[in-house]
Amino acid sequence: MTDDVLIVHGGTPLQGQIRVRGAKNLVSKAMVAALLGESPSRLYDVPRIRDVEVVSGLLELHGVKVTAGAEDGELVMDPTNVESASTDEINVHAGSSRIPILLCGPLLHRLGHAFIPDLGGCHIGPRPIDFHIQSLREFGAVVDKTPEGMHLSAPNGLHGAKLELPYPSVGATEQVLLTAVRAEGVTELRNAAIEPEIMDLICILQKMGAIITVHTDRVIEIQGVPRLYGYEHKPIPDRIEAASWAAAALATRGEIEVLGARQADMMTFLNVFRSIGGELKITDDRVARDGITGAQGGIKFWHPGGELKAVALETDVHPGFMTDWQQPLVVALTQAHGISIMHETVYEQRLGYTEALNTMGATIQVYRDCLGGTPCRFGRRNFMHSAVIAGPSKLHAADLRIPDLRAGFAHLIAALAAEGTSRVYGVDLIKRGYEDFEAKLAALGAHVERP
Ligand code: EPU
Repeated sequence: MTDDVLIVHGGTPLQGQIRVRGAKNLVSKAMVAALLGESPSRLYDVPRIRDVEVVSGLLELHGVKVTAGAEDGELVMDPTNVESASTDEINVHAGSSRIPILLCGPLLHRLGHAFIPDLGGCHIGPRPIDFHIQSLREFGAVVDKTPEGMHLSAPNGLHGAKLELPYPSVGATEQVLLTAVRAEGVTELRNAAIEPEIMDLICILQKMGAIITVHTDRVIEIQGVPRLYGYEHKPIPDRIEAASWAAAALATRGEIEVLGARQADMMTFLNVFRSIGGELKITDDRVARDGITGAQGGIKFWHPGGELKAVALETDVHPGFMTDWQQPLVVALTQAHGISIMHETVYEQRLGYTEALNTMGATIQVYRDCLGGTPCRFGRRNFMHSAVIAGPSKLHAADLRIPDLRAGFAHLIAALAAEGTSRVYGVDLIKRGYEDFEAKLAALGAHVERP
């Protein structure tokens, strides 16, 4: 498909300012939460990305009126007339996103039944939904898996439960929150995920009338309430997008100020960025400090010149180093002096994209062993989940096909850092999670064009 190609003339340092808006991985869940309210919800700073379109489509199919508000990025969702949708209509969204699974609880509460199409999302391993189904069953849902999708009902209503996740899954924790808030009685969730996006979702649910307590040691307690109302919320900024641009600054020896990025959500990333030799300046309190109306702060990232240092890292659940920060950062690590190690412990197959980097001149070897950190769930199970990166390598241009969202952005960074002209195919996939990325590239002085 020729219209899905970006021609990248690499070798120019990216320089300038760009802005990130609400986090993709919160905004989509906040939209689902709106279904639980009895009055309209208002979400601000919503990025124009494909995942938002998919969730809007799903909400509209179920009778939620989704309209743009007066402010740029404002979304109004009116769930007063929630209704059933036909499986055919819902199936139009099959394979387009992982979010539909989160509609289970809200639809069961609103309609007494739900149909969830086959899921999509990035192809980064098997991505099972067993924790979701197990939790829903413990709330009292009847789950019937068919080849076309999943039918759910709750003949005896949904009741609070004592649950423990085998792994602190983000999606399963959200599933439990979105179901428990209106289930009868108390739910206790152990081994919950505590990512900042989850905490922000809890803030939204509290605004809606929910009673949720976050205890120490990953325990969340939810006291069910009979009804919830609409919310108004400005989401946390997208810390994955912010880190992606930071890695781009480092890999291209440039300087990027990411407006909207927030230190508190990114401390682990910032420590690593600095350990590699990148420089950063926090400007996210500029407005509060200087009282400049309309000014916006963020975080400025730059390559100070000289050599970057190799590091040993492993991805982990929060507060560890996010799996979604891994791919863009590995591109920057190809420019560091020495041997870096990246042990991926969240997904078993998220290093496939390194093959393309090797064709561009990188030296990355992937291993089945748990290297450089604590043994993880994937050790000795034949998953190539540790990478050893030897650098620095001079990257040269290549024709690339984007495999998934984050790896796709990593490929794009590699093409921008490489000497010569690369063709990046499948680039529209990046629109799933990066708003206006071509306009942002242009603002940063990148030489890119469509054929
Ligand atoms: N898992 C199971 N069973 C389940 C659910 C999860 O085994 O029922 C496993 C997964 O296979 C994986 C691990 O648990 O190995 C963690 O998965 P998690 O459920 O935490 O991931 P998710 O909710 O599907 C979200 C983000 C991902 C992000 C992860 C981890 C969204 C829409 N997606 O996925 O973001 O990588 O959490 O932080 O919020 C992305 O934005 O590109 C992306 C993939």
